[in-house]
Amino acid sequence: MLERAAPIGVFDSGVGGLSVLRELQQLLPAEHYLYVADGGHCPYGEKTPEFIRQRMVAVAEFFRAQGAKAMVIACNTATAAAAADLRERYPQWPLVAMEPAVKPAASATRNGRVGVLATTGTLQSARFAALLDRFAVDVTVLTQPCPGLVELIEAGDLRSPALRGVLSGYLQPLLAAGCDTLILGCTHYPFLRPLLAELLPPEVVLIDTGAAVARQAQRLLAQSGLLSEQAAGAVRYWTSGAPAQFAEVLERLGFAPGQVAELPK
Ligand code: DGL
Repeated sequence: MLERAAPIGVFDSGVGGLSVLRELQQLLPAEHYLYVADGGHCPYGEKTPEFIRQRMVAVAEFFRAQGAKAMVIACNTATAAAAADLRERYPQWPLVAMEPAVKPAASATRNGRVGVLATTGTLQSARFAALLDRFAVDVTVLTQPCPGLVELIEAGDLRSPALRGVLSGYLQPLLAAGCDTLILGCTHYPFLRPLLAELLPPEVVLIDTGAAVARQAQRLLAQSGLLSEQAAGAVRYWTSGAPAQFAEVLERLGFAPGQVAELPK
């Protein structure tokens, strides 16, 4: 029996899902959150879908053992590889997944050219191909896989010359093609907004899905009668990587200091 007071499990390969957690906390401040980073296996971008599916089942089981009333897959790459599998395994458990915002970008573009920054895994997935077939009908979509970017964000220095250099290289072909709208198709990338504002011409519009995911979580929980009635919520963190490193980056990304535990094997 799922309960209103139970926590929501939020998952990402690393710190990227914190960009979604931020939106969830803003919209649903009365909820308790359990955040799991699979830091020991990050990045997911170049991993096989089979490997990601196995990790996702392990994390979903962990959340369920903790009594989570719902799970948010705050990771585009994990959604592409494993969301369908998890929905099949746990048909009664509210699950929120996410994918690059192709539909809003197709409406936002003024010149019909949209660029997508995402991981190789997301861009190569059947799910992403289906998204393009469905929503990118009258627009040209240019995709840009970004290997290496997630590792640099995980390092926590969003101003490093290395990060600036790698990001500029990935933006270059999209700008050369005249894209006026860019989709941030990986939950790590919203943390790059300040740097992107320096590297992009002001007319380029950036789109990510964090706020939409939070609204979807709110809808699903409301439908299931599971919205929290507590006064205020809290967050607990686990990582399969190094807890001290996660705790440090958490603060560098502007989050309140939190207790970070090692994810049980
Ligand atoms: N943050 C993830 C996403 O939204 C994946 C990052 C990675 O581990 O490569 O795609």
